[in-house]
Amino acid sequence: MTKMTLKEVYRRGKQELERSGTPDADFDALCLLEHFFGADRTALILHGDKIADSAVCRRFFSAVAERAAGRPLQYIIGKWNFMGFDFLVGEGVLIPRDDTEIAAEKALSLARTMSAPRVIDLCSGSGAIAVTLAKLLEQSQVTALELSDEALAYLRKNIEHNCADNVTAVRGDVTKDFDLFPDGSFDLIVSNPPYIRTKQIDTLQRELAFEPRIALDGGGDGLFFYREIVAKWKTKLRPGGYLVFETGEDEHEPVALLMKRHGFTEIGFELDLQGFKRATFGKI
Ligand SMILES: C[S@@+](CC[C@H](N)C(=O)[O-])C[C@H]1O[C@@H](n2cnc3c(N)ncnc32)[C@H](O)[C@@H]1O
Repeated sequence: MTKMTLKEVYRRGKQELERSGTPDADFDALCLLEHFFGADRTALILHGDKIADSAVCRRFFSAVAERAAGRPLQYIIGKWNFMGFDFLVGEGVLIPRDDTEIAAEKALSLARTMSAPRVIDLCSGSGAIAVTLAKLLEQSQVTALELSDEALAYLRKNIEHNCADNVTAVRGDVTKDFDLFPDGSFDLIVSNPPYIRTKQIDTLQRELAFEPRIALDGGGDGLFFYREIVAKWKTKLRPGGYLVFETGEDEHEPVALLMKRHGFTEIGFELDLQGFKRATFGKI
């Protein structure tokens, strides 16, 4: 490989991503540049004419090729930020999404009204919600339930990586293992369960094909896990406890109805930036 300056590396990386039709090519090229060379936009302006190390260049362009083939940026970099905390990610675990901040923020504001809240995050994946709540609520005790062994390995790493000593990871099936916990064990249940309709999964953006199907598939109508959780976990809340769900675009109404039928009151929604009701919650 001929010698290239940092600026040339960035431009060529960006062009290769653009040519492959990668959305946000500029952003992705900059993230990869920062990851491999430790150079952000300011460093690019200040030191862009310096010759880039050729071994690092080779690693950078091989990552660009992976990204151009559709592998999510977050898996290439190996970590992603969620609400100010770093989460290690890779194939086998869902990448934490900005949308999930809406349910996490709602859970946080409800838990802040409680002293030493006992919280469980069902379908915890990387632990994005569980670890964030535990870090921001020092007195809390948070349980994180997850079925997939691959995801559970990331969950455990993320608890350690963030020194979240008040989180306990539990391997369990949300549809079967509710009796691991006595009734009234929790003040708050939060969950971002799989909620994509089975038939829709293959029609979504190509990056999703890299993410675990078990993290996405919410059954024929997308509501399978909401039904299971509401019915099987409501008694695990103490009277007056809260359930907070992340909900997909068309799911807030049926989920709210389901919660109402199971005795939840004070049902409400939280909107995302596009105005979608992205979190649905209620009190038992
Ligand atoms: C949509 S992801 C959410 C991950 C994480 N909570 C987040 O918000 O980034 C759903 C998670 O549920 C897990 N899961 C799927 N079926 C499950 C089951 N029966 N019991 C427990 N967890 C399950 C998946 O492995 C995946 O990690």
